[in-house]
Amino acid sequence: MKNIIVGALTLLVVGLMIFTATDDPVFHGGHQSKVIEDFGDGKNQKIAVTIAPEEKSDREKENEALSALRDKAGNAGAFKVTNEYKSKCSSCHGVNGSGFQNGKAMMGPKIFGQSEEKLYKDLADFKAGRKENMVMKGLLINLNDNDLKRLAKEIGEFPARAKAKAQQAAE
Ligand code: HEC
Repeated sequence: MKNIIVGALTLLVVGLMIFTATDDPVFHGGHQSKVIEDFGDGKNQKIAVTIAPEEKSDREKENEALSALRDKAGNAGAFKVTNEYKSKCSSCHGVNGSGFQNGKAMMGPKIFGQSEEKLYKDLADFKAGRKENMVMKGLLINLNDNDLKRLAKEIGEFPARAKAKAQQAAE
């Protein structure tokens, strides 16, 4: 009896193996190969042509040149921030905490100009889950309370740093 069951199972497994090897598209590149085929048949090439970017108008070019200049001026007046802030926070809140870069709103809100106390409270609340935001919570998991205090203190100083830098530049 045992032998019959084992034999039947073996047959079933071998049968499945043959079936998957011959029939399952996964073994032949799956959906990806279908996509590649779609690209190759020439029918879709029209679409690619229609979505090619249009030549920029003179006005747009002018605007870009202007904002590039502004950024340069802005960077020249940029105040110093720690590498910690730069590497951990600036990608979403901007190098100066403005929440803007190259005139575009970034993912994080403006934090420039907020008080050390409010910044620390927000950070502690994110970390504790009292204030809900998956992005900020995930970021703060590896930071301890002292790290939060240090960051809050630094960001709280941004306006003073900006002012000092502006005065320096004027002298
Ligand atoms: C991946 C993007 C991202 C990074 C990196 C990031 N943040 Fe945020 N941050 C956000 C977003 C999005 C919010 C808005 C959350 C909300 O209001 O629910 C936020 C909110 C905040 C707030 C609350 C501001 C307010 O007015 O409500 C503070 C303070 C803050 N972040 C500080 C930091 C600090 C300090 C760092 C670096 C350790 C950092 N963030 C890194 C995306 C980011």
